[in-house]
Amino acid sequence: MCGIVGYTGNNKCINLLYDGLEKLEYRGYDSAGISFIEPSGIKTIKTQGKLSNLKPLLEKTPSGSSCGIGHTRWATHGKPSVENAHPHTSGKITLVHNGIIENYSELKNQLAGMSRTLSSETDTEIIAHFIDINLEKGKTPLDAIHDTLNLIRGTWALAILIDGYPDQIWCAKNQSPLIIGAGEDEYFIASDIPAIMPNTRNVIFMEDGDIAHIAPTEISFYDIHLKTVRRVSQTIQWNGVTAEKGGYRHFMLKEIFEQPRCILDTVSSRISASGNITPENFTLDEKIKKIHIIACGTSYYSGLVGKYMIEELARIPVEVEFSSEFRYRNPIIDSSTLILSISQSGETADTLAAVKEAKKLGAQTLSISNVINSQIPRISDYTLYTHAGPEIGVASTKAFSSQLAALFMIGVYAADIRGTITAERKNQLLYDLKNIPAKMHHILEQSSQIKVIARRYIHSHGFLYIARGMNYPIALEGALKLKEISYIHAEGYPAGEMKHGPIALIDEELPVVSIVTRNNYYNKTMNNLEEVRARGGKIIAIATTGDMETADISTDLFMVPETDPLLEPLLTVIPVQLLAYFISDFKGTDVDQPRNLAKSVTVE
Ligand code: F6R
Repeated sequence: MCGIVGYTGNNKCINLLYDGLEKLEYRGYDSAGISFIEPSGIKTIKTQGKLSNLKPLLEKTPSGSSCGIGHTRWATHGKPSVENAHPHTSGKITLVHNGIIENYSELKNQLAGMSRTLSSETDTEIIAHFIDINLEKGKTPLDAIHDTLNLIRGTWALAILIDGYPDQIWCAKNQSPLIIGAGEDEYFIASDIPAIMPNTRNVIFMEDGDIAHIAPTEISFYDIHLKTVRRVSQTIQWNGVTAEKGGYRHFMLKEIFEQPRCILDTVSSRISASGNITPENFTLDEKIKKIHIIACGTSYYSGLVGKYMIEELARIPVEVEFSSEFRYRNPIIDSSTLILSISQSGETADTLAAVKEAKKLGAQTLSISNVINSQIPRISDYTLYTHAGPEIGVASTKAFSSQLAALFMIGVYAADIRGTITAERKNQLLYDLKNIPAKMHHILEQSSQIKVIARRYIHSHGFLYIARGMNYPIALEGALKLKEISYIHAEGYPAGEMKHGPIALIDEELPVVSIVTRNNYYNKTMNNLEEVRARGGKIIAIATTGDMETADISTDLFMVPETDPLLEPLLTVIPVQLLAYFISDFKGTDVDQPRNLAKSVTVE
């Protein structure tokens, strides 16, 4: 969380920094700030709340500065306020930070003993103080920074200005992402690629332990022992247009509508003309006896669907676990386990740490990620990228369905090489997969129906989402989407579990979103819907096209086209995404940047 930018070169930096921060606001929006170097010294402008609050303040202070840093914050230590907004200054040092300093209390006490006064509640400010103390002792900037990094424990991406060095920036990275874009006699610093995409495609990925010293015409990298290291730039192929709203009211809506294209891009290059799946360099080792999926949030729910797909097709046991639970519980993992991590950002701290832990235990690692060269793919043995393009809306949509497509391909591929499906079944499955984008289009064309349904429920105080089998994770995902963007409480439940407790919630006020498609679970789920109806609950059903029985018992109905049951989640997820979107938009919440959230969760 938190977004960092920096610039040094021949151009004015303020607008460049502001535009970069706009692209990183998905990482946090509790406060924002920019520091830049003027002939008179370093100037800092910061504000509480969204980045747009900074604009009028910057306009009041025009500057020709060509070297500066900026930050957009997701609060960890200290409430959202101007005092806690970055950049933080101590003496000659001004810096921005993304990460968490774990031994912050201990270091804060040390500073108190040195009569240093802190002006914020953040863990970041102590870093500025220790670097400044080292400078006062006569150390060079590089030594002052290096020695401070040896004192702190935790995670960091840092960009640092030092008074007296008018065109220079120092950066450091440990576990939080940091990239440097190389232009002509200029360098751009950012937490993520979209922030520098309009300016350069040449990107250097800093590595853990690195310190960089950057001036407009030269850059040097040092490792943790201060030995010079070489970091080469790579050319990034992303298309900048995909990071714009493109006429949609919100990024989230645009991203929901992009899903047919995302599935096509994720799938098409991996299915050969002869009908084989080639998941890049990944090969399923014969000795793999178990797959263990680790992920967080929405990606965890795609993992739950993946379990249905892979177990059903390839007959390998699959366990799915939250990364934050996995890493702290001494899991039973060895070289016969394939750890399959799922992360849109490829940067989620808990998932990253869980993959590292799994590698230590000797597991093979495969990751599904949407961000090329992000940290999780870089440390995994194999990666299957989803080609969804940048996902800007904080609530994940197109990344989720693309993950489902990737998991389905892994299932079919593994089944094929293990001989657990016939050639005929494989061909049918791939045929059905290739038809998913067209079926998604059809659903999206009916989105106005969901809008009408959404309007009826905007005053509801809570929702229940129920389903069975491979659609059960979609009930969980639907509830999560609604919670995170509309702030309405919602719970996802396996329909068969209702009678063991949640049925007590049902009354005339409670909307029950029910996924009741024509598959093996249909009759059982219908029984559960009868139980809801008998207690006066309002049923919002998502059913298979032509299902008149469900039409009879539901209050509101949305139909999705028929497909192989294992692929149904790719279709049933769209109405639940749209329902959450329209309810939130009617309520007037901040759909793309819901309160308290950030897109890339780089803290534990
Ligand atoms: C919800 C959402 C989050 C993320 C979770 C994991 O809409 O976006 O729950 O899914 O923070 O993020 P990644 O997939 O980047 O590891």
